[in-house]
Amino acid sequence: MKHTDIVDVFSDPALIGTELTVCGWVRTSRDSKTMAFIELNDGTTLPHLQIVIDKANFGEIADFLRLGTSLKVTGTLVTSAVAADSVEINAAEIAVLGECPPEYPLQKKRHTLEYLRTIPHLRVRTNTFNAVFRVRSVVSAAIHEFFQARHFVYVHTPLITASDCEGAGEMFNVTTIGYSNQYQSEEEYYADDFFGRRASLSVSGQLEGEVAAMAFGKIYTFGPSFRAEKSNTPRHVAEFWHVEPEVAFAELPDIIEIAEALIKHIIRSVLEKCPEEMKFFDARFEKGLIEKLEAVVSHDFAVMTYTEAIEKLKQSGEQFQYPVEWGADLMTEHERYISEVICKKPVFLTDYPKEIKSFYMKQNPDGKTVAATDLLVPGVGEIIGCSEREADLEKLLDAMKARNMSIEEYEYYIALRRFGSVPHSGFGLGLERMIMYVTGMSNIRDVILYPRTVGNIS
Ligand code: 4AD
Repeated sequence: MKHTDIVDVFSDPALIGTELTVCGWVRTSRDSKTMAFIELNDGTTLPHLQIVIDKANFGEIADFLRLGTSLKVTGTLVTSAVAADSVEINAAEIAVLGECPPEYPLQKKRHTLEYLRTIPHLRVRTNTFNAVFRVRSVVSAAIHEFFQARHFVYVHTPLITASDCEGAGEMFNVTTIGYSNQYQSEEEYYADDFFGRRASLSVSGQLEGEVAAMAFGKIYTFGPSFRAEKSNTPRHVAEFWHVEPEVAFAELPDIIEIAEALIKHIIRSVLEKCPEEMKFFDARFEKGLIEKLEAVVSHDFAVMTYTEAIEKLKQSGEQFQYPVEWGADLMTEHERYISEVICKKPVFLTDYPKEIKSFYMKQNPDGKTVAATDLLVPGVGEIIGCSEREADLEKLLDAMKARNMSIEEYEYYIALRRFGSVPHSGFGLGLERMIMYVTGMSNIRDVILYPRTVGNIS
């Protein structure tokens, strides 16, 4: 269908005075005695294009004005009668592409985000979701730009896996066997299943990413990860998009540098490419958002050890719901206090107790901590999990044995330490949490098209 995108209508002054055709959905409309006005949006940009109808030139126009109706409009593009820096179309011809009845759920009033979650197939047509998904698209492109410009190879790691990367057992099983009571044991059941052994959806592409990094030096993955965590929180979904670089010949400070540069590159891209959307989020969802992000890109992130953070949390005098003890995992309330009150900016928390972290992390000489870091940001908490990997075969085996892990299952991973092992590091950035941080949206369910959460797959 030959037509002009509304984003081009707004940005190309040469079009003023010409006749053109646009398509889109009616977002609002107004009827008066001699004139009618339609705000049309085709999804290519946040602002709507005003269509001006001189009723003397048309017969019945009621069908054009209903919210949600899709139209094809031909007319002359002119400077707006009320705002000299904007444009509108004086309609000559209007065709209804698809009618929309009055029971269309998106009526003129402002709907709550909670209500909009019940209509995921329609909420994308609102301004909020138009802005969120444009930013999501720009963030995704920025991630590829960042790594491609630095010679990282983009690899696609498997989504179906036989090994549990995080060792937390929060995996979805992949099976073709339905309900059955014909098996005497788990082994018998899995032996009869599609792969002849237990298979799951991957929680992280890291282990296979390490395999690729030992060949290509610098790699990244960017795809979905799955977690069967029963955490019904504003920060957890069962299916999220995961960015995982893995870098050979890199120690912890090297990977921290890369992580900070990536976050700053993403923010700069969004500020540059999504000015309308960012103004919208600043006005509607987080006052001062743009100023906050501008400060983030122009200052160094903080770096603090876990041990120091525990001391500071204890000295704060703050009443936390969960106790603060060296050796205990930090909860969201602690993470947010550290980044929002203590550091007031993004902070890399380093050197966690080895017992609360994963088997693959490099053991520090103190025998108590590992060379791992989480990036905590104000408003969201943890957005990156990162570590230098244990490159020493014996130490890796010891860590696996201490966790009762099956050495046989991870033979391929252990082999990387046998055949030309090198210091290497990597991290995982949760795309949705990054989007929350740059948009100020406070619930992860509102930054992904179809959120999958415990008890909900609508
Ligand atoms: O800290 P995590 O568990 O680290 C890993 O999976 C490592 N294997 C990554 C690596 O080193 N290659 O997860 C990394 C990030 C978290 O910081 C968070 O942003 C995101 O993944 N994440 C989730 N996002 C949404 N919902 C969930 N359930 C998430 N679980 C993790």
